[in-house]
Amino acid sequence: MAQVQPEFQDVPDEIEEAILDLKRERNAVILAHYYQESEVQDLADFVGDSLALAQAAEKLERDVIAFCGVHFMAETAKILNPESTVVIPDMAAGCSLADGCPPGEFRGFIDEHPGAKVLSYINCSAEVKAMSDLICTSSNAVKMTQSLGDHPIVFAPDRHLARWVAAEAGRPDLIVWPGACVVHEQFSAKRLAHLKVQHPDAEVLAHPECDQAVLDQSDFIASTTGIIQRAVDSPAQTLIIATEDGVFHSIKQKAPDKVLIQAPGLDESCACNRCPYMRLNTLEKLYLCLRDLKPEVTVPEDIRVRALQPIQRMLELSA
Ligand code: 13P
Ligand code: SF4
Repeated sequence: MAQVQPEFQDVPDEIEEAILDLKRERNAVILAHYYQESEVQDLADFVGDSLALAQAAEKLERDVIAFCGVHFMAETAKILNPESTVVIPDMAAGCSLADGCPPGEFRGFIDEHPGAKVLSYINCSAEVKAMSDLICTSSNAVKMTQSLGDHPIVFAPDRHLARWVAAEAGRPDLIVWPGACVVHEQFSAKRLAHLKVQHPDAEVLAHPECDQAVLDQSDFIASTTGIIQRAVDSPAQTLIIATEDGVFHSIKQKAPDKVLIQAPGLDESCACNRCPYMRLNTLEKLYLCLRDLKPEVTVPEDIRVRALQPIQRMLELSA
């Protein structure tokens, strides 16, 4: 018989029902990103990409937001909705992009480029947002870049997204912080080329956090929501998908007849297209965070107020 971990010993067997009961008792809402386990997505009130989740968080009037995603997303919800208690199932659910852009070093980087506007990808800490003029997500990064006109731009923290945006927005002069996503960077262009030979009719869908050699072989490049929508709408029956495989759940629900193939990673033996941070959240931890109202995500008020401005600017420009 499988051993129950000590911290989960008092989690009830009927866990889905228990979570829904707690949700009602707490006047809570459950938000989930598409990279969550399918059972977490199924229990959520709202599932979305990072832009849609920020838009949803702004409008909520609930006592508690249980945010099933990574820390910077929960932090963004707190920045937009300070009246709500924001909890996350696992506080260790970080992000290689946010973690790879420490605020102190980023301050120094900005200071090396006086006069540049700072455009930060939402995958960064509240402190980095507080130093930014504008925030973007993968679904509006080109539009946000263009909204800054001819101004010099510091773009952080994803170098792959930056390179794609630079080409799409006609801004080869972006000043780029050299971060990367551990999940999207590990797709193998060489193995993808082999896979395409085996599936000549397949369409390749990729997230812009992927390496250029992968994007060069892709038919469609978009955010998580964009990839899901294209998979449903595409005339192609077979789709090769270069993003976190949590999106498969939603695509299978909307287009059950499509054949979905994961883009191959560099390491054949590893399930590396599962975000190790996103997947820390489980139903058991969701139950416990709703029961105990912890771990709670908080943001110091001075940082929250400064971080709110560039996020709100993005939301206004995206409306
Ligand atoms: P989306 O903006 O597509 O939700 O992407 C978030 C993310 O973390 C991608 O790895
Ligand atoms: Fe961060 Fe990459 Fe995970 Fe997205 S998939 S949360 S960018 S580490």
